[in-house]
This record gives sequence, C-alpha cells and structure tokens, in this order.
Amino acid sequence: MVTLLLPDLHLRLETDRGVFSPDRIDAGTRVLLESVPPPPAEGDLLDLGCGYGPIALTMASRAPGATVWAVDVNRRSVELCERNAKAAGLDKVRSAHVDEVPDDVRFRAIWSNPAIRIGKQALHEMLTRWLDRLTPDGVAYLVVQKHLGSDSLQNWLNDQGWPTTRAASRSAYRILKVEAR
Ligand SMILES: C[S@@+](CC[C@H](N)C(=O)[O-])C[C@H]1O[C@@H](n2cnc3c(N)ncnc32)[C@H](O)[C@@H]1O
Repeated sequence: MVTLLLPDLHLRLETDRGVFSPDRIDAGTRVLLESVPPPPAEGDLLDLGCGYGPIALTMASRAPGATVWAVDVNRRSVELCERNAKAAGLDKVRSAHVDEVPDDVRFRAIWSNPAIRIGKQALHEMLTRWLDRLTPDGVAYLVVQKHLGSDSLQNWLNDQGWPTTRAASRSAYRILKVEAR
C-alpha cells in the first residue's frame, strides 16, 4: 500500500511488485498532481498509463461528474486501479486495457506520466494514438523528466502540430501542456 497525500486528497492505494513505483507515489506524478489546473467538471477524461491509479483517482475526485478512463497495457495495473477506485468510492473511473476503450470516446483532458522508457518510437506512437482523441478544446498535461528528454519531446509535439508549452517546472520535472491539433 502507498499513501497519496495531496492538499485536497488522502487515499491509500494498493500496489504490487511489477507495477510502476510500488513503494511510493512517483515524484513526477506528485509534481503533475500539484501543478495542473482542475480538470473539466464533465465529459470523458483520460489517464494514459494509469499504473495503480494515482492520477486517475485524483482526476475523478476533482471532477466527480466526469468519466475518467484509466488505461494501461499492463493488466495487473488495470486491475489494481480498478480496485483502488472502488475502495475510494470513485465509481466513475473506468479502468481498461488500452484496446478496450470504445473508438468514439473523445477526451476533454488527458493527464499522464507517460512511459518514456518504452523508447522514442513507441512513445510517439502512443502519444499520437491518444492525443488525436482530444476534443477540439481538449488539453493534455504530461510530466516528463528533463534528463529523459522533456525539451525534445516538446519540440517533437510542436513539429507534429500539437501546440505545446511548458506549463510548470519543478526540480527535475517539466509539465508539458499540449493542445489538440
Ligand atoms: C511512468 S508509469 C506511470 C504510472 C501511473 N500513472 C503513476 O503515475 O504512478 C507509465 C505507465 O504506462 C504504462 N504503459 C506502457 N506502455 C504503454 C502504452 N503503450 N499505452 C499505455 N500505457 C502504457 C506502463 O505500464 C506504466 O504503468
């Protein structure tokens, strides 16, 4: 179990070996959750690469009227996120494998601590797949470590047509704000 303690939220989350950051809330995830503006109150929102769910559960708690899709390629992560949402009473979290989200769902916000270590090509494919599902006024917030290439990712996103700016910067982390293209 780990504790997610934010100014507006206090949750205990079940984790497991083999999922991302099982012993503590990741520092980048914390920077993201302490930096981003509140999510849209309604509509569909996305946590891309949910792990055991700290981002999805924070979105759902800050936007209780919204449906929060929590997706991952790792089945154990999806299962843990689902259990953690249920335990927290956040019944508008939809935990799903990436291939299980209906094609017609569009997201008003995406928050993600993306899996940078999967490699540049896989990262670019993953981001393209999901950023093109933002609504026209939708915004994504990504947390990326500077030494893992936040500046080059920002440049790539801009080059691909998603207007991207640095929304916040704290210690080694950058929060990229990405608008729909
Ligand atoms: C840096 S971790 C963040 C986990 C969680 N959001 C957190 O903040 O603790 C990235 C997550 O992305 C997942 N992932 C890897 N490749 C993915 C892909 N192609 N699509 C979606 N998620 C992916 C990993 O399994 C991992 O859970």
